Amino acid sequence: MEKVKFFDTTLRDGEQAAGGMLNIQEKLDVAKQLEKLGVDVIEAGFPISSPGDFTAVQSIAEEVRGTIICGLARANSKDIDKAWEALKKAENPRIHVFLSASDIHMLHQLKKSREQILEMSRDMVAEAKKYIEDIEFSPMDASRANSEFIYQVLESVIDAGAMTINIPDTVGYAIPDEFGRLIAGILSNVKNIEKAVVSVHCHDDLGLAVANSLEAIKQGARQVECTINGIGERAGNASLEEIVMALETRRDLFNLATGINTKQIYKTSRMVSDLTGFAVQPNKAIVGTNAFRHQSGIHQDGVIKMPITYEIIDPKKVGVPASSLVMGKLSGRHAFQERLAELGYSLSEDDFIRTFTAFKELADKKKDITDRDIESLVAEEMRTITETFHLDRIQVTCGDRGIPTAAVKLKSPNGKTMADAALGTGPVDAVYKAINRLVMVPNKLTEFSVKSVTEGIDAIGEVLIRIESEGITYTGRGADTDIIVASAKAYINALNRLLALKKVTG
Ligand code: KIV
Ligand code: ZN
Repeated sequence: MEKVKFFDTTLRDGEQAAGGMLNIQEKLDVAKQLEKLGVDVIEAGFPISSPGDFTAVQSIAEEVRGTIICGLARANSKDIDKAWEALKKAENPRIHVFLSASDIHMLHQLKKSREQILEMSRDMVAEAKKYIEDIEFSPMDASRANSEFIYQVLESVIDAGAMTINIPDTVGYAIPDEFGRLIAGILSNVKNIEKAVVSVHCHDDLGLAVANSLEAIKQGARQVECTINGIGERAGNASLEEIVMALETRRDLFNLATGINTKQIYKTSRMVSDLTGFAVQPNKAIVGTNAFRHQSGIHQDGVIKMPITYEIIDPKKVGVPASSLVMGKLSGRHAFQERLAELGYSLSEDDFIRTFTAFKELADKKKDITDRDIESLVAEEMRTITETFHLDRIQVTCGDRGIPTAAVKLKSPNGKTMADAALGTGPVDAVYKAINRLVMVPNKLTEFSVKSVTEGIDAIGEVLIRIESEGITYTGRGADTDIIVASAKAYINALNRLLALKKVTG
């Protein structure tokens, strides 16, 4: 069976989404998970865009094997050199060169003629080709460009050595039928097209990214560019899990294979959501919390009799944990380890010990511990690994009389503890002010939200915050059965990210 390649750009276009910044270790963790998921290409970043991006691409290139590792470059020598420098230790490196090709972009942004764009595209693909064979080229804003011009550009970059030509619907403007015709037109009008793989890259501004990608596949595209949970610039990119499951579920129609291990979808989705702080909407196809929940009595009746009546995908197929109530106070180390393995985690001994200790502490406060609680515990423990400051303890007094007061003790980078106290308009404000007195990093809180991981009064509360400093947004998350403690953890998490980036960029 013919195969569709999956080019995942979660770490480049996905991370480009406002407020979605990941640190180097987090990018590496996501890349390793993407490899387990079975994507064909990981676009690890845009090396020239920042020192952090450069280092992230470099570490992924060094550590992730078995998948093509790609770096993005504009059509100029500096970008290409930088991309190569970051990628050179990869087992299978790819440079992705892009240049706008629509009249709108050429006229208003680049101020270049079609002839100049044609020449730059060809020359820069040839330049990248000096480093490696595997070059991809994207004529940006192709869906709003003149198709005859796109054919010309593609023919000339394929001649210069591009092995993949990627057609972006950069602003999410295309309609499926129209986008399909563009792909069909490319396949029948570009003379040397058989020498390249045709790829598509769709944005979701009209909610059509997945539909456009599927239509392109129907017309002959054999690589799709997408992101986990559909995150990305503005309304996002085409969602990987939706395309994969459409191809799997409707194999009768597409008759195409993928290299994706669908059982890893749910875990990858949770990981990306946890690390970026972008919550997955409950009704999101494939990975939303309601995606496999049946509310209506008629549907429930049907599913009990035979799941296929109302369920087109077996949730197990995408790795949604089968059970909900699993563990409690009496569950031992071995049972916990087994449950972690069933959920797809393989932790180092140290990480396991820390997570197991946290599990035991939680079990003292909460009777039934669900898979979602365990996922939240693992995420919480992983968050503390790269800490500069660690929350040692907090104490808060609040209520409708008196002034909210918080005392905070932190462990500093040199292992010493430091403590301070502050008053605030509420308990969280008091905690944040006390932390500010200790950490002393100017920033502005731009977002704060609390949600419970599971139902019930004893549920773990997860706090997500975003802070802004020098024009950069940092996300922080924290989880605890006490939401004030979770809020403090989230703030420390965001500050640690801010400090880590400062260390990298100086
Ligand atoms: O949306 C877009 O056009 C892009 C290109 C860099 C491929 O992200
Ligand atoms: Zn894009």
